[in-house]
Amino acid sequence: MLDHHTIEKYELGWLALSAVLVTLLFVGVISSMLTQTLPGIFTRQASYLDPAKLAGTPFAAPGLKAAPDGSLDAYVVARAFQFQPNVLRVPAGQAVTLHIVAVDVIHGLMLGQGNVNLELMPGHIATLKTRFNHPGTYTSQCHEYCGAGHQTMTFKLIVEAPE
Ligand code: CUA
Repeated sequence: MLDHHTIEKYELGWLALSAVLVTLLFVGVISSMLTQTLPGIFTRQASYLDPAKLAGTPFAAPGLKAAPDGSLDAYVVARAFQFQPNVLRVPAGQAVTLHIVAVDVIHGLMLGQGNVNLELMPGHIATLKTRFNHPGTYTSQCHEYCGAGHQTMTFKLIVEAPE
C-alpha cells in the first residue's frame, strides 16, 4: 500500500511527462509547418493554381521543358480521365522536377520507379524533384478513384538511356 505522499509524487511525474510530450508535439507540428514539410497554410501562394486559368502557365502546354541552364521540368495536367501528356520521356540519370496538377477531382500517380507517389489535389501543384536512373518503359495508372473512366487513366514514363 502506497501512502498518499508517494502517490502524489507519481502523479506529478506523469503530469510532467505528459506536459513534455504535449510540448514536443506542438513544437513538431509548428516546425513542420514552418519548414514546409507539411504543405498547406504557408505554401498556399506558391503551389496553388486556379484550374480554370491554366493559360499563361507552363501547364497550358504540358510536357518536358529544358531551361537554358540545362535543368529539366516536367509539367503534367491530370483530368478525368487522362494525363496530359500521357507519355513522358525523360533522360536517365538527370534530375527532373515534376509539376503535376489536377484540374477537376482528386487523382493520384505512382511511377514505376524513382520513388514517386503523388496525391493530386485539384488546384494544388504537386512538385517533386527526382531522378530516374534505370532506362525502360514504366506504365502506371491513376490510383485514386476519380469516376467512370478511372481505370483507363494511364501514364507511361519512358526513361531513355544516354546515347
Ligand atoms: Cu484519375 Cu482515377
